[in-house]
Amino acid sequence: MRAIKAAFAEAAGHILSLPAGELEALIVHPPSLEMGDLALPCFRLAKTLRKSPQEIAIQVAEGLRGSRAFAAAEAVNGYVNVRLVRSAVAEQLVRTIQEGVEQLFSRRRNVGMTAAVDYSSPNIAKPFGVGHLRSTMIGESIVRLLRADGYRVIGINHLGDWGTQFGKNIVAYLKWGDEEAVRADPVRELFKLYVRFHEEAKEHPELEDEARAWFKRLEDGDEQARSLWRWFIEESLKAFQQVYDLLGVRFDHYLGESFYNDKMDAVVEELRARGLLVASEGAEVVDLSAYGMPPCIIRKSDGATIYATRDLAAAIYRHDELGATHLIYVVGAEQTLHFQQVFKVLELMGKPWAQHCRHVAFGMMKYNGERLSTRRGKVVYLEDVLNRAIAEARRIIEEKNPGLEDKDAVARAVGVGAVVFNDLKTYRMHDPDFRWEEVLNFDGETGPYVQYTHARACSVLRKAQQEGVSVPVSPAFGELDDAEWHLVFLMAQANEVFERAVDEFDPSLIARFALDVCHAFNRFYHDHPILASEPAVRGQRLALTDAARQVVAYALYLLGLEAPEAM
Ligand code: ARG
Repeated sequence: MRAIKAAFAEAAGHILSLPAGELEALIVHPPSLEMGDLALPCFRLAKTLRKSPQEIAIQVAEGLRGSRAFAAAEAVNGYVNVRLVRSAVAEQLVRTIQEGVEQLFSRRRNVGMTAAVDYSSPNIAKPFGVGHLRSTMIGESIVRLLRADGYRVIGINHLGDWGTQFGKNIVAYLKWGDEEAVRADPVRELFKLYVRFHEEAKEHPELEDEARAWFKRLEDGDEQARSLWRWFIEESLKAFQQVYDLLGVRFDHYLGESFYNDKMDAVVEELRARGLLVASEGAEVVDLSAYGMPPCIIRKSDGATIYATRDLAAAIYRHDELGATHLIYVVGAEQTLHFQQVFKVLELMGKPWAQHCRHVAFGMMKYNGERLSTRRGKVVYLEDVLNRAIAEARRIIEEKNPGLEDKDAVARAVGVGAVVFNDLKTYRMHDPDFRWEEVLNFDGETGPYVQYTHARACSVLRKAQQEGVSVPVSPAFGELDDAEWHLVFLMAQANEVFERAVDEFDPSLIARFALDVCHAFNRFYHDHPILASEPAVRGQRLALTDAARQVVAYALYLLGLEAPEAM
């Protein structure tokens, strides 16, 4: 579509003696395809050209009429509406997809750049709830989007594996814990102990002192404290890993907060050397009042370094040691101020790459309309949600397609896909709601709907193969009717959608795009015989079916979903 818009702008620029680039930025998609495929509004040109918008539109429309690149050009109310040569667009589209569908989406604009993406990053010994799904899957999709755009991507899980909380975990485990129970279900058991700690501490505040003492022992390298801490992490990681395996998420590095323990002093010294540290109520902070922000606390009165200091150390490590040029953080919107402070401090430290740090925030997940809170012990474990979704998908498949091979694998892809798609289709700053009756609806705007449409296209192509009919390579296209054209025209916009999704870190644009292509494909499929049509048309329709199959599969890939060939 970009090339087509450029050609439109070029031609119009030629007619008006104006630079094409200026005009290209003005080109819009008319509200409906009935009006035209593309339109150039001439209102902004009126002043420069000293003519009315409609006069300009008429001049352009007349000039374009001789061009073979446009099937029609019309001036309407100050707009030039053009119709494209459908067959030419379709031929170009199919050729590109046949060469490699990823080329339809990406121009690989960022080759040579390295992005470190910090995502998922759950806290050890706290539940991995449905809320964590957001960071994990928005992050995974961003990883895939950036990689497709040419970045070398380093996916990092910044595990919350350090902090005073571990003092509480240790106290609770030593008092009420049971080794077998922890081994059997580490995340739930450790969390249960943690909740119990808080309950008992209300009556016995001295527990808090014990916890502080244990954390101090941990910091000082006490053997018992360290081995318990290490064990909690190992067991929790095993449990997280099961969820990551289900989701198909793989990190390049697990570099938790504790990894930076020996890298914090250097940060504090660097801040001091630059004269950025000031004393405040016994703590050391970086004053950010000039930037309208509260101070960034670097070291607390008891000498303990905190979350922000660790993030400074982590950022410097990612840039200096891992070679990242861009630092991306996929973390909930409640940490917005924290990242503004960290990025500002990096800038004050004289790190020019601070301008390439980006907090990709997101809203809170609701479950059946309700907010979840770990504090109040109200958690819905992601693993339970995924397993239930898989079981339901399995039941639906059993009903719809009892003869299907590989039912377990397909149920897994569909169940997990349903949960993930529901999350990603919502713009990340909004609060998505999770409702069982919606996420698995095969006819709704869901993952299963997209996957099912993909499987349907695969099934048409399988049938063609059985009948000895193959998809033509770079076929010539005849006339395309509206349903065919709509599908072609939508797919031809993949690159623009993709680049916006990358630039705005917004996977929901890809999800929306996948849904639109599926709607268009299903309309095409319902309105037209494909295999039963006459040979000339059949080749064209098979090529379109194959193109749609690949586009949908690639969009699903960018969202972190699988695309089963049958379901
Ligand atoms: N563990 C934190 C939490 O669950 C998120 C960490 C995000 N990453 C970072 N570099 N601060 O709230």
